Amino acid sequence: MPGSALPSIVSTVPGPQSHAWVDRLAQHECPAITARRARRALQIGAADTDPIVWAEAVGQNVTDVDGNVFVDLTAGFGVAAVGHRNPAVIAAVKAQCDVLVHAMGDAFPDPRRIELMDTLATRTAMDRVILGTSGSDAVDAAVKTAVVATGRHRILAFDGAYHGLAFGPLASLGYLRHTMRQPFERLLGTHVTWAAFGGALPDATALSEFAAVLVEPIQGRGGMREPPAGWLAGLHEAARAAGALVIHDEIYSGCGRTGKFLASELRPDLLCLGKALGGGFPISACLGTAGAMDAWGASTGAAIHTQTFLGHPIGCAAALATLDELDRLTPIAAITGASLAAALREVPGVSQVTGRGLMLGVHVHNALQVTHDLLDRGYIVLPCGERAEALGLTPPYGLTGAQAQGFVAALTDVLQWQR
Ligand SMILES: Cc1ncc(COP(=O)(O)O)c(C=O)c1O
Repeated sequence: MPGSALPSIVSTVPGPQSHAWVDRLAQHECPAITARRARRALQIGAADTDPIVWAEAVGQNVTDVDGNVFVDLTAGFGVAAVGHRNPAVIAAVKAQCDVLVHAMGDAFPDPRRIELMDTLATRTAMDRVILGTSGSDAVDAAVKTAVVATGRHRILAFDGAYHGLAFGPLASLGYLRHTMRQPFERLLGTHVTWAAFGGALPDATALSEFAAVLVEPIQGRGGMREPPAGWLAGLHEAARAAGALVIHDEIYSGCGRTGKFLASELRPDLLCLGKALGGGFPISACLGTAGAMDAWGASTGAAIHTQTFLGHPIGCAAALATLDELDRLTPIAAITGASLAAALREVPGVSQVTGRGLMLGVHVHNALQVTHDLLDRGYIVLPCGERAEALGLTPPYGLTGAQAQGFVAALTDVLQWQR
């Protein structure tokens, strides 16, 4: 099967072609983007921390510009859940390209957008949808809806949270992500209050001025962290009693990542989806109950919330095909995730495996160095957690047994050298 290969490393990692491309990139890209490599070099004392430059990807495999083949345990930030260049998604996009590439957002819709909203609403038991192109868009739409629906403006968010870097979501980033907020602090307002994720529940009186509680049912970038059993239900109860809405940010944890379409079975007032939804094409959705969304009132002409690419036909066609593929692949994610987690727990040097399905946090000493060493062996992983204390594994759901075993063997080898 294309995309099921084990790693094949034929040059240094990164190789000469990657270096050449990165030299060129460094000439024009804003330095804030490349700074992460400098930070990692500083932290792990490595001389060579240039990234590999991706040339091609299919299924679970990425090939770089030097011809090295990697197994992608990130699915490209959790996006390629149905595999890179999934054939059904590509076929749907090609067919859509032959008929309509761009419609007109809030002014003139098209059939794919309408079909996608029908499908999403049915699948999530929600009533209404606002489409966007990024996860940040979906969170923005949810926060704005909560403000419109409640007439309040305060938001409760959680430590370790990540909701995107546009101004709306940035304000709600967990306070331990201070570096991302710090330059913009004065523009972020004072409407967000943070509580401990999985910690003491707020009482209804404390929430009485709040428009919404914004929460990831499982924190992704925050370390694949699950709250204790019953905590989310308690949060719902407190919010309801206070008249505040509950927003579930399932941008990372949704679309089958945990082995079910959604990580939480509780029905929120607003639900954000993105990342994997478009099978690699940028599309996101904020879904809501009629009670929450209808507070916007009917458009009288100039929409007060929209964007140029709202409900982009290519993204919608890709999402419809992705949702079909997810029906087939999500049960597999549950099984593969359980066996991968069990195998990882046996690896000497792994102190803890958190998360569910194929959304796993593997706690190891010096995760940044381990990430680097795994790349040398052909496995792409990202660090996660507030202090980069774990490896975040969010592979495509088609990860094969051989690829999973190969990764476990590579990790065992890396950790053995560390000790
Ligand atoms: C839980 C969560 N919400 C929101 C976002 C932001 O999505 P985007 O980067 O597409 O704006 C992310 C991205 O990692 C995320 O993990």
